[in-house]
Amino acid sequence: MILPIYTLGQPVLRQVAEDITPEYPELKQLISNMYETLEQSEGIGLAAPQIGLPIRLVIINLDLISEDLPEYKGYIHTFINPHIIEFDNTETDSMEEGCLSLPGIHEPVRRPTRIHVKYLDEEFNEHDEWVDGYLARVMQHEFDHLEGKVFVDHLSMLRKQMIKGKLSNLLKGNFRCSYKVKTKR
Ligand code: NI
Repeated sequence: MILPIYTLGQPVLRQVAEDITPEYPELKQLISNMYETLEQSEGIGLAAPQIGLPIRLVIINLDLISEDLPEYKGYIHTFINPHIIEFDNTETDSMEEGCLSLPGIHEPVRRPTRIHVKYLDEEFNEHDEWVDGYLARVMQHEFDHLEGKVFVDHLSMLRKQMIKGKLSNLLKGNFRCSYKVKTKR
């Protein structure tokens, strides 16, 4: 089932999400619905708050960009209860980001290139690893959603000022996009 994507202005996007247990109701179905939703919106990542649920659940599909970045061929992963343990601040880079919850907004964001993450996979097996490259960026973007943050929060005051009009239209629900959304009103 394709779920509507909650856009900026929906309070759930500003909530800190909670860890879940294997008993979470209909988890397999929920994850499958998230993959279906991500596919039709042509995104590479989706966090549960973006479909209205304040829980720590993220899916990432980098297979879509594997033409440009072949190392991610077949990279499709589910992250349960992910937490960033540590940011390696020795190196950062800047790259344009967008978000299904902020349609029409694309801005460069500076982030550390390497992070230490802990998470559970779909079978609730524990993982503890250092991640770098493009995946580290996508994880930081998606895991931010679980802390009630969105990518524009990382912009300078000046950039925020420059996209003020776009953000205000987004908050009012004055925009078009190709997938099903749930705006504030
Ligand atoms: Ni996003």
